[in-house]
Amino acid sequence: METTRTTLVVGGTSGIGLAAARQRAARGDTVHVASRDPAKVTDSALVAHRLDGNDPTAVAALAASLAPIDALVVTLSGSDGVGPLADLDLAVLRRAFEAKFWPTLTVLQAALPHLAEQASITLVGAISAHAAMPGTAGIGALNAAVESLVRPLAVELAPRRVNAVSPGLVDTPWWDALPDQARTDYFAAAAAGLPVRHVSSADEVAGAVVLAATNTSMTGTIIEVDGGARFVQL
Ligand SMILES: NC(=O)c1ccc[n+]([C@@H]2O[C@H](COP(=O)([O-])OP(=O)(O)OC[C@H]3O[C@@H](n4cnc5c(N)ncnc54)[C@H](OP(=O)(O)O)[C@@H]3O)[C@@H](O)[C@H]2O)c1
Repeated sequence: METTRTTLVVGGTSGIGLAAARQRAARGDTVHVASRDPAKVTDSALVAHRLDGNDPTAVAALAASLAPIDALVVTLSGSDGVGPLADLDLAVLRRAFEAKFWPTLTVLQAALPHLAEQASITLVGAISAHAAMPGTAGIGALNAAVESLVRPLAVELAPRRVNAVSPGLVDTPWWDALPDQARTDYFAAAAAGLPVRHVSSADEVAGAVVLAATNTSMTGTIIEVDGGARFVQL
């Protein structure tokens, strides 16, 4: 049974979060998306807000204005932190935690008092937390940190539900820092190596986000939507 009515997607102005927001809006939810630059969202079905997930006062104010929130989805992140350990600049990896782990936790804590009693919380980690891909030890640790929140909070925050989705390679603006040709070549090579033979779309991963947010028996679960990436070397 679906109970979701008001959805807030922090990081929902792009990629997976935006796709999840659109899927929920198409099902009749009131959907709010928030990020530091909300102007990039032009959908009339979504309400876009300016918000930095690192700002607890702003998160609390937005959440209070929307309360009670039935589904909180957090999809924000930066895209730093990849590279072999021998060459990895630890200051860059520290910034990656500042761009994903700490704002995820900040959003959770600041929004908590404004969630409905039966609310769902859905986070997004990454398959690097489970796979053994060279060059992902740092970013894997970051995503493992995010995903490790799920099980204890599923019990601590009950009857609210807490889940995460763990994507592999997803074609979103997260990859915009790569030059077009390098990205095309990397995606083509990855697609050939993936068991599903394609790079995931934002919509495919968003489908799992929506499942976690709306299935009222699902809690403490991490859904892997990685095209089988965790079984191969890309
Ligand atoms: N794409 C992939 O291949 C992939 C793979 C595995 C995991 N993931 C994970 O999936 C999640 C979604 O990624 P995506 O691919 O959809 O990336 P994306 O298209 O770059 O979207 C990230 C969103 O987060 C927002 N954001 C970043 N920092 C924020 C902050 N401090 N406060 C509020 N909003 C913030 C960005 O908007 P503003 O810049 O306007 O703030 C943007 O809307 C991330 O956690 C990412 O690590 C992605």
